[in-house]
Amino acid sequence: LKRILSGVQPSGKLHIGNYFGAIRQHIALQNEGECFYFIADYHSMTTIQNAKTRLEHVRDVALDYLALGLDPSKALLFRQSDVPEVCELAWILGTVSNMSLMEKAHSYKDKIAKGIEASIGLFTYPVLMAADILIYRSNLVPVGQDQVQHIEITRDLAEKFHRAYGKEVFPLPEHRLDVGAKVPGVDGQKMSKSYGNTIEIFAEGNPLKKTIMGIVTDSTPVEAPKNPENDTIFTLFSLFAYETEIAELANRYRAGGLGYGDSKKMLLEKVNGYFGPFREKRKELASRPDYVEDVLRTSARKARAEAIATMEQVREASGFLKQP
Ligand code: TYM
Repeated sequence: LKRILSGVQPSGKLHIGNYFGAIRQHIALQNEGECFYFIADYHSMTTIQNAKTRLEHVRDVALDYLALGLDPSKALLFRQSDVPEVCELAWILGTVSNMSLMEKAHSYKDKIAKGIEASIGLFTYPVLMAADILIYRSNLVPVGQDQVQHIEITRDLAEKFHRAYGKEVFPLPEHRLDVGAKVPGVDGQKMSKSYGNTIEIFAEGNPLKKTIMGIVTDSTPVEAPKNPENDTIFTLFSLFAYETEIAELANRYRAGGLGYGDSKKMLLEKVNGYFGPFREKRKELASRPDYVEDVLRTSARKARAEAIATMEQVREASGFLKQP
């Protein structure tokens, strides 16, 4: 049985990029292997430094996952920080990581390019992520495009550890991408919490309408033919629609006479139709905080047992005695 693992940072409201890139496949895969999904609250410390905010975001991510269909009888859903052994492994992997490899990581390079001062935590972010993946001896990591490099780094660090200590403790993990591996935001750039260009999964009513009506388009007049290929509205619509509906909208774009205002309305209808039922479920779950907490804790206990078993092998291989 394959071990499947992935994480999401609790750094704000989850958006449809998170959904179509990652969460949808996480939920689909819960029938195909042993799934370990976690809320990366240690990672969120690189951007959020407020205790109350972090706790709220963690709770939000848990509610989102359960509302979107994560079934706790099939998959684990836990807080990263409930398995603190991951920090021990991150330390150990850090000692076999080259500085030059970390300097090439996009997450760090992008922040530096924007003039944001980097902490040591941000710099070693990929090492903690490698520890997340390796500590559960994961085989498959379903993610969006922007995480692929991190998984390559993970394989590299696993091999460095194996070479250094002459023992193969970790399977080498593969990434898995869905069709929505790079969902554009309302401004056409990659959808991202840090760009403020997101469509939130659980937005509804007027705020959702405002966001969708605000999608940036070119200025082709209503009557003129349009190219669906480089239009954000069309790209987003395609994520929600059936093949025939996508083909039909493409034809209407090319024929001319369809304005972007019209296709935005079509998109809005799709978003409401798709996420509508999940909103109800989320409201219901929000009224049962004890249930949600119970899922997180029960999952964490199971995940932690796996992590401890891996760490026994790691410690033995690298010259540490059994813990007293
Ligand atoms: P995070 O929280 O930024 O994103 C969560 C998941 O959503 C995907 N994603 C997207 N997919 C398609 N289009 C987009 N516009 C888009 N934006 C985000 C991400 O690729 C990701 O799969 N470092 C990770 C969290 C993490 C992790 C891990 C993931 C920590 N440890 C171990 C996998 C394995 C992150 O910041 O994801």
